[in-house]
Amino acid sequence: MYQDYTRLRDEFGIQEFDESLWRDLPSPHRLLRRGVVFGHRDFEIIRDAVLSGKSWAILTGLMPSGRMHLGHKMVIDEVIYYQSIGADVFIAVADIEAFATRGYSLEETREFALNEYIPNYIALGLKPERCHIYFQSENQDVKDLAYILGKKVNWSQMVATYGFDGSTNMTHIFSPLIQTGDILHVQLEKYGGIRPTLVPVGVDQDPHIRLSRDIAQAHRLYSTILTRDNKIGVFVKTDRDVKKLLDDAEKELSLAGFEKLRRITDYKAIYIDDAEKMDIPRINELLAKTEKKFGGYGFLQPSATFHRFITGLDGEKMSSSNPGGAIFLTDSPEEARKKIMNAKTGGGVSLEEQKKKGGKPEKCMVYELFLYHLIEDDKELEKIYRLCRSGDRVCGECKKHAAMLMEQLLLDLAEKRGAMRDETKLYLQ
Ligand code: TRP
Ligand code: SF4
Repeated sequence: MYQDYTRLRDEFGIQEFDESLWRDLPSPHRLLRRGVVFGHRDFEIIRDAVLSGKSWAILTGLMPSGRMHLGHKMVIDEVIYYQSIGADVFIAVADIEAFATRGYSLEETREFALNEYIPNYIALGLKPERCHIYFQSENQDVKDLAYILGKKVNWSQMVATYGFDGSTNMTHIFSPLIQTGDILHVQLEKYGGIRPTLVPVGVDQDPHIRLSRDIAQAHRLYSTILTRDNKIGVFVKTDRDVKKLLDDAEKELSLAGFEKLRRITDYKAIYIDDAEKMDIPRINELLAKTEKKFGGYGFLQPSATFHRFITGLDGEKMSSSNPGGAIFLTDSPEEARKKIMNAKTGGGVSLEEQKKKGGKPEKCMVYELFLYHLIEDDKELEKIYRLCRSGDRVCGECKKHAAMLMEQLLLDLAEKRGAMRDETKLYLQ
């Protein structure tokens, strides 16, 4: 909550997630409406796929270590929303990554995934029958891709991106490539083919997003760009089959309705004088599909959204290693109530002062619970905000309200988990 996300965005070239991106989606999710999702890369492509009814995929990975808390719930809430509006959902259980980077055995991570994460995902509303859940260690296609795609990444790039050094072990070094395999495999023919893919993550995952986008692009045979003199150009990136690739591109472009094509063989280029900047994604996708004939993958660069982290109730990071500040989805209502009653709020030093000067909801962990998880209705949330600011709402009562809503949420989840725990294994591929 205290992090400066604007700075982060500017530093890494993440775009602002403004209203034009979510306004036209069907019943936009609260995390999108309320600015919790604050940044993106290429989300326009996903929005346009949704609005035009095209096929698109969403992929997320779960790190099966420790217990699942409210921070983990956010990503899956987003995934469930996107599933409800037509996304083809993939969930990677990152057992190789947990083994490589956190020191868990593959068996331990399997237990965490089967007993903790997946039952909670389904209890939260994920429809398992319309979703692909897999373990990294068991998906040969993902592992093969990781190996093959690694051909276009060198050591300097890995050092610059992840800070690896001479003492980093090989399994750890390889695990970002497995994540790239996760992200890109959904565009293999067998899994649904070339199409827009969304990866919703926290900003800490941006290095992985950049790596997968770079790798996807590096393996393309064409690149479609806006040139310096504001023209749209298609360039062949390889030295093999140049003529055939240019022929093919020309054919596809004229079939798509472009008429003013200028081919400059020496530059391995076709300029499209009747195309505009906004046509680039369409051209890019069109040409991706023809690359297969020449042995390419044609992967489109994955899109991503970035969400804020939820703060722990004690004002520190919400993390499994800080159980006092985290609410776990398997906490009892009493445990959760205790944490909420002890939470750091934006209230005044004394009740009297708070009534006079009002509270600060933007600095309050309890308000954050309402905003991220507990209150769906924007008007109701706004009312809490207003009453807090004016001093007409005080922390004691407010915490009780949050504890009550949290109790309902936890009991509901416990009931749903109980009802289907034994079925979980059935849904794994
Ligand atoms: N690295 C992610 C984490 O630390 C887990 C993960 C694995 C992932 N594969 C992924 C996330 C693919 C997004 C997409 O939590
Ligand atoms: Fe937070 Fe509620 Fe107190 Fe306002 S009244 S500071 S929202 S706990």
